[in-house]
Amino acid sequence: MKKIGFIGLGNMGLPMSTGLIKAGYHIIGYDLNEEATLSLKKAGGEIVSSVAQVVKKSELILTSLPSVKAVEEVYLGEGGLINNANPGKPLVDTSTVSPELNVEISEVCKKRNLDFLAAPVSGGVIGAVNQTLTVMAGGPKQTYEQVLPVLQVVGENIFHVDEQIDSGTTVKLINNLLIGFYTAGVSEALQLANKKNLDLDELFAMLNVSYGQSRIYERNYKSFIAKDDYKPGFSLKLLRKDLEFAMELADDNQLDLPISKSLLALYQAVEQEGYGEQDMAVLYEQVKKQSNKKGAAQ
Ligand SMILES: NC(=O)c1ccc[n+]([C@@H]2O[C@H](COP(=O)([O-])OP(=O)(O)OC[C@H]3O[C@@H](n4cnc5c(N)ncnc54)[C@H](O)[C@@H]3O)[C@@H](O)[C@H]2O)c1
Repeated sequence: MKKIGFIGLGNMGLPMSTGLIKAGYHIIGYDLNEEATLSLKKAGGEIVSSVAQVVKKSELILTSLPSVKAVEEVYLGEGGLINNANPGKPLVDTSTVSPELNVEISEVCKKRNLDFLAAPVSGGVIGAVNQTLTVMAGGPKQTYEQVLPVLQVVGENIFHVDEQIDSGTTVKLINNLLIGFYTAGVSEALQLANKKNLDLDELFAMLNVSYGQSRIYERNYKSFIAKDDYKPGFSLKLLRKDLEFAMELADDNQLDLPISKSLLALYQAVEQEGYGEQDMAVLYEQVKKQSNKKGAAQ
């Protein structure tokens, strides 16, 4: 399989497809955003103007889309993948969406004899650029094995979680619930450091070799907070979306997770304040503003 269709050329999709081009694959790209398609073209990919053309020219199609709505449109829409796909051309969704949507797409694919994998990824933009993503795939093992050589180009740690289509998504949502906690924890803990006039670089050097260390502390502090630059990355609204899916999953399984619930409410409120398009690490700035609002001297 040398001709790969890639739909959704955003923060993740663009570096993933660029990595595939570097590995010798021919990428046929499609995105609604012209800037994204131009970037792929610059990287050596071919651009087409519809989902149907992607299917026609590709042997395998990957998607990396930002929302349930976008995935529904691209897979289930009138001009979408399923209406245009042929058996023998596997469809792999690397987006993080609801488990219900994974199941719905899988059921429709089965009826049409199409192979589908729900394979969300973790590792962020940096992981996509360095081709070190973790892939958590759910779906038929046979399809997984067929597309494995391609997944091994975009990632370093590739897991087939289970034949159950939404099994990879479950793992991914647990992962992102933890990301939500760590991001909130870093945001609040660093305010205490600010109050005590600690140097945040020195603090990081010490905590990075202590139990307070985490990959999210490293990511959020080094790449965003220390640079005072919150261009995503992983936007806060995408994290809020994943926390909503995680809470729906808890509800569906009669599980009460009160701390997670308040965490979701926090991200929803921060998004309402206009931080949604910025990287999730921006929560630090919002917490800073809030704590100052409460009148504590800086
Ligand atoms: N950014 C991260 O660090 C990260 C990490 C792991 C997983 N993810 C997941 O990967 C997915 C993509 O994330 P991202 O950060 O790249 O998002 P993004 O918003 O940067 O990119 C999404 C791209 O999809 C395009 N798009 C939207 N609707 C479309 C449609 N109907 N047809 C064609 N293209 C369409 C947009 O124009 C955009 O270029 C999300 O599901 C996200 O949760 C993101």
